[in-house]
Amino acid sequence: MKKNIISMAAAMAVLSACGPGVPQLGKSSLDEVIGAMTLEEKAHLVVGTGMAGFSGDSAVIGATKKLVPGAAGTTYPIERLGIPAVVLADGPAGLRIDPKREGDSATYYCTHFPIGTLLASTWDQELVESVGRSIGNEVLEYGADVLLAPALNIHRNPLCGRNFEYYSEDPLVSGKIAAAYVRGVQSNGVGTSIKHFAVNNQETNRMATDAHVSPRALREIYLKGFEIAVKESAPWTVMSSYNYLNGVYTSENKELQTTMLRDEWGFKGMVMTDWFGGKDAVAQMVAGNDMLQPGLPKQYEAIVKGVQDGALDEAILNQNVKRILEMILQTPHFKGYKYSNKPDLKAHAAVTRQSATEGMVLLKNDNGALPLAADVKNVALFGCTSYDFIAGGTGSGNVNRAYTVSLLDGLKNAGYVVDEALKNSYEAYLKTEKERLSKDKKEWFMPDTRPAEMAVSAQVIREQAAKADVALVTLGRTSGEFLDRMVADFNLTKEEQSMLKAVSDAFHAAGKKVVVVLNIGGVIETASWKSVPDAILCAWQAGQEGGNSVADVLSGKASPSGKLTMTFPVKFEDAASSANFPIDMRVSTDLVNKGGKKNDVKDVDYTNYEEDIYVGYRYFDTFGKQVSYPFGYGLSYTTFAYDKAAVKSDNGVYTVSVEVKNTGKVAGKEVVQLYVSAPDAADANKPEKELKAFAKTKELKPGEATVVTLKVNAADLASYDEAASAWVVTPGNYKFLVGASSRDIKATLEAEVAAATQKTNNILKLQEPMSLLKR
Ligand code: BGC
Repeated sequence: MKKNIISMAAAMAVLSACGPGVPQLGKSSLDEVIGAMTLEEKAHLVVGTGMAGFSGDSAVIGATKKLVPGAAGTTYPIERLGIPAVVLADGPAGLRIDPKREGDSATYYCTHFPIGTLLASTWDQELVESVGRSIGNEVLEYGADVLLAPALNIHRNPLCGRNFEYYSEDPLVSGKIAAAYVRGVQSNGVGTSIKHFAVNNQETNRMATDAHVSPRALREIYLKGFEIAVKESAPWTVMSSYNYLNGVYTSENKELQTTMLRDEWGFKGMVMTDWFGGKDAVAQMVAGNDMLQPGLPKQYEAIVKGVQDGALDEAILNQNVKRILEMILQTPHFKGYKYSNKPDLKAHAAVTRQSATEGMVLLKNDNGALPLAADVKNVALFGCTSYDFIAGGTGSGNVNRAYTVSLLDGLKNAGYVVDEALKNSYEAYLKTEKERLSKDKKEWFMPDTRPAEMAVSAQVIREQAAKADVALVTLGRTSGEFLDRMVADFNLTKEEQSMLKAVSDAFHAAGKKVVVVLNIGGVIETASWKSVPDAILCAWQAGQEGGNSVADVLSGKASPSGKLTMTFPVKFEDAASSANFPIDMRVSTDLVNKGGKKNDVKDVDYTNYEEDIYVGYRYFDTFGKQVSYPFGYGLSYTTFAYDKAAVKSDNGVYTVSVEVKNTGKVAGKEVVQLYVSAPDAADANKPEKELKAFAKTKELKPGEATVVTLKVNAADLASYDEAASAWVVTPGNYKFLVGASSRDIKATLEAEVAAATQKTNNILKLQEPMSLLKR
C-alpha cells in the first residue's frame, strides 16, 4: 500500500515537472538538474536498478540489463532529465560480461589478463598501466562505463580466498600498482572503482564480520594503498567493503568515507557499496556512500521515508546525487560513444601473453635447469593442472574468455613434444572427475572444487624417465570470493607429494631434470619439498595465454623478472595473522545480507588484528623468523651486481641512486627495492625495515649497466602516532637499504632526517582495547 502511495506521488511530480524547459544533464547546471528531481527520482538514482531475482522494478531492470548483458549493475536512468543508465562491470583480470546473447550469433568474449597478484609481481608500473589500457579499451568497446577494479586489499594472511585479486602484503606495492592500473584503464575515458574500501581481508562471513584494527595499522597498512591510489590516479569511484570496521559497517562509516577519504585525502569521486553491502541505507547516505548497488526496493523505500520523516537531510541526499551525476557526465554512455563490440582481442592476447611472463617468479634454479637446454625436446608433463591450466580465480574476478592456453598447448606451440600416452590418461581422468564434481557445484560464482591429483604408477614414471628429456610437474590451486582457502589447500596433498617425489627420484636416477610450475593464486607451502625438484617457477594464474607465457619462460624466450610481493612462510601458522584468522571455518553469509544478529564467534563474527602493523615481512624480518621465500625475492636467468650506491638529500627529498649491472650471459631485468630503517625502530615499536620505493630496470643486455634512481619524501618516513593523532617523523640517522629482496640487502646508506609532524583527525578508533603485538 505504502509503495503505491510513493509511486503515485512520484508520478504526479514527474507529470508536473515535464515539458519544455525541464533541465537536462549536461546542458543545465547540476544544481538545476537536482533541483528538478523529485525525491523519488533521487532515491532511485542512489539505489541502482536492482539485480534480477532479488529486486523490484522489473521493467527498469529488464531494460538496463540488456545494455551490456552480464554486467554487474547499472545506475537508474531518468530520461526526462537526460540521465542515462550507465553500466558497471567487473573486474580485476579483465571485463566480466556474458559472452553470448540470446538470439544473437555474435560473441562477446573478453580477454582474461593475469590475476592481480601476478601483475603486482612484475613490480613494473608502466607495464601495469599498459595492461590497464587494454582492459579499459574492452570496457569502452563493449559499452560499459565503470570497471569494478582494481582490488587492492592487503594480503594479511595466505589463506584469504581473494588474495589472487589483490596485490601484496605491502601497502606501497598495492597502492602504486593500483594507481598504475587505474591510470591505464581510465585513459580510455571509462572509470574504475578501487575496492574493497576497506579491510576486507577475509571471505569467511564477509558480509557481517567485524575487523578490529588499530588506527595505526589502518593508516600504515590497510588504508595506505588506497590513499596512494586516490592521490596518484584519481579513480572515478571507490567501492566500500562488506565488513564492519571497529563496530561500524564500512559503507555506513562517515569517518572512513568522508573524513578520511574526502577531507584528508581529497577524493573527488563517488563511493558505491559492494553488492548488497551494509544494512542501513540512510546511514550509508550520511556516511558519504553515495550509491547502493545493485539496489533493493527496501533501500529505495528507506531513503524516501528517511527524507520524509527527517532522518535524512535532503541536502545530504542532494550531495550523493550530485556525485553520481558528476560520474555519469564523464561516461561513454552519457557522451553517446558508439562502441564497436569489437575490441582487438588478438592484440590484447599478445599483451596478456607478454605481461604474464614479467610477473612470473623463478623461485629456484639449480645448475641452470632453466631455461630448458637447446637439446630438450621431449617433455613428460605431470600434474592435472598442466592439462587444465588455471587462468584465474572464480567469482566476480573471473573473465568469460574465448579460450585458455594450457601448459600442454603452450609447450606444443613452442615446438616441444609431449608424451601422448601420458596426456591421454590425464585427459581421460580429468573428464571423468570434472563431470563428477560438477554435479555438486551449486552456484556459478562459488569456487571450484578441482580434481585431486591423479595417481601415476611407478612403472609409467620409469618409462617416462627413460624416454623424456625433462619432467615438468604442475601444481595448481584456485580460489574465489565467498570462501577462504583451507590449510589443506596451502599444503601439498599426499598425492602431490608422492607424485613429486616419485617423478624426481626416477628422473634424477636417469640423470634428468625436474621442473615444478606453480599455477596458483596465493601462497602455498614450499619449505618441505623445495629441495626435491631442480627448478621451481611460480607462474601464478597467468590469464588466458598462460600456457604460452609459461612456455616462453621455460624455453628462455623471456627471462623471468618477477619478484614476490608477499612472503612464502615456512608453515602457514608462522604468519602472525594466523593466530586470528578463520582457519578452516567454511562460513559464508547469504548473498543478500540480512543483517542478522551478530554472534560472538572469534574470527567469524569478529577478527582481532592483534599482529597490528606486523604484516608480512614487517613481521618476519622484525622478529627474525625463518621464511621459505622472502618478500621481494625472485631469480633471473642472469645475475646482477649492485654498485656505487649513494643517497642525496635535498629539501626533504631523499634520492638514492645505484648502478645495476647485468653480470650474466643473457638479457634480463632487475627489480630494485629501497627499504628504510628508522633510528628509533626498536624503542618506538617500528618494523625493522619498510619498503619505501622500488623500480624495475629496462632490459639489460649481458654486461650492460644502468643507474636506478629512487626517491623518498621525508613525510613518507613517518609512523602514525595514535596518542598525538599525527604522522610523526622521528629525527635522526636513518638507514636506506638497497635490496634485491627484503633479505638480500646490497648496500646500506645513511642520512639525517629532520623531525616533522602532520596532524590528522582522531578517527576510526578501536571500540575496546586489544592486546597488540609489539616489538
Ligand atoms: C564482489 C565485488 C564485485 C561485485 C559485483 C561482489 O560479490 O565482492 O568485488 O565487484 O560482487 O560483481
